[in-house]
Amino acid sequence: MHATPRLSVVLAAGEGTRMRSLTPKVLHAIGGRALITHVLAAAGQGAGTAAPAVVIGPGHDAVAAEVKRIAPTAEIFVQSERRGTAHAVLAARAALARHAGVILVLFGDTPLIRPETLARLQDAVTTGAAVAVLGFRPVDPAGYGRLVVDGDQLVAIREEKDANDAEKAITLCNAGVMALDGTHALTILDRIDDRNAKHEFYLTDAVTIARARGLSVVALETEEDEVRGINTRAQLAEAEAVLQKRLRQQWLDAGVTMVAPETVHLAVDTKLAHDVVIEPYVVFGEGVVVEEGAVIRSFSHLEGAHVGKGARVGPYARLRPGADLQEDVHVGNFVEVKAATIEKGAKANHLSYIGDARVGEGANVGAGTITCNYDGAAKHHTDIGKGAFIGSNSALVAPVKIGDGAYIGSGSVITDDVPADALALGRGRQIVKDGWAARLRKEKSAGKKKPAQAAIER
Ligand code: UD1
Ligand code: MG
Repeated sequence: MHATPRLSVVLAAGEGTRMRSLTPKVLHAIGGRALITHVLAAAGQGAGTAAPAVVIGPGHDAVAAEVKRIAPTAEIFVQSERRGTAHAVLAARAALARHAGVILVLFGDTPLIRPETLARLQDAVTTGAAVAVLGFRPVDPAGYGRLVVDGDQLVAIREEKDANDAEKAITLCNAGVMALDGTHALTILDRIDDRNAKHEFYLTDAVTIARARGLSVVALETEEDEVRGINTRAQLAEAEAVLQKRLRQQWLDAGVTMVAPETVHLAVDTKLAHDVVIEPYVVFGEGVVVEEGAVIRSFSHLEGAHVGKGARVGPYARLRPGADLQEDVHVGNFVEVKAATIEKGAKANHLSYIGDARVGEGANVGAGTITCNYDGAAKHHTDIGKGAFIGSNSALVAPVKIGDGAYIGSGSVITDDVPADALALGRGRQIVKDGWAARLRKEKSAGKKKPAQAAIER
């Protein structure tokens, strides 16, 4: 029931000094994605969402760039002076003035908020409240605003610095997320002043102002994990842990086996099909898709990779961006694949680097094979034909093409194209000297000088 359009205002003007970082706080990442990107993703889901308004601090060009990258239609507003949460919302006045639907205020440093919770707040406003506030009961309420309720109505939000002892004893706290009826929002916000302990314009004062105007104000509740705000690196790590738990649960529910889920690190956009098996200690960076029945064995690291049906990866494999493993491919221990397509049923089971390449269907890449893709200036392509056999410890110097069904002798350095079904050898020829070792031992025991060299020369 949210037919009314909704405008999200994301506050991100904070300095984030406690992160001790040169990077703006909201650009730190969990699940491989910036904090603000999580917030914008949640805000962008749901019916009738208008382009978000994002309030940033002066000079935060990197934040603006990230916002534009993921929400190109977003409007960016700069709050030139940090004078409180209501002051920050009013920095987006132009967007608020244009919008008569529901206005959602979110914090850019609170990334775990769920779209369903935002929908609940939105519904509270569309069904009659002028203001709806999200509350939670933190383990430690210190520092949070307390929600003073009377029945189903929210009477006031008291900031800790302004609270008396009775108010400080309240366990229901303000999460910071608020929904406002757009037809009343500016009237309410413009009445907020800075007469309080911090001399800031508190968004939380919207509650008493709305009530004084005879409007309804309600509080909804959610669990603490969803509204964890991030101020420090330790809180960043805690939020990551909450997110990882959520992601793992989602994939377990979808039919993925994780032998030791707590050791698997996922990205927000990881996609795993049913009957995929993930062994302990696997890391997924951004952009990984794994098709049904594939097995990712322990200690593998994947990013920007596609793993086809029934493929086997690892243990100790590294799939980098552009690695495309088709059905039933085997990539084994200490094999690195980058920007390469490994076609159906092909195998590279041990100790290899395959970069900027195609490995044809059913081909076998022997242990220690390296595609020498870089000449110090540019990258070049290696093409290995269907059913080709690359002997162990071969160096394929790109650009080079190995024909279908060709054989490469072990230890070869291949610099020229090899025709289909041919054998190519690019290595020193073997020499055998009968009886040489026995002769050497004899000469040594006879006390001869430089016996080995003398023996080789013969
Ligand atoms: C705020 C709430 C408090 C709530 C808590 C939840 C107010 C007055 N208080 O307090 O009731 O329990 O969040 O975490 O709203 N920001 C700006 N510009 C400003 C001030 C803040 O963009 O001038 C942004 C910050 O970057 C941050 C958010 O607004 O993302 C919240 O500001 P913060 O200073 O952390 O508010 P709290 O004191 O924690
Ligand atoms: Mg805060």
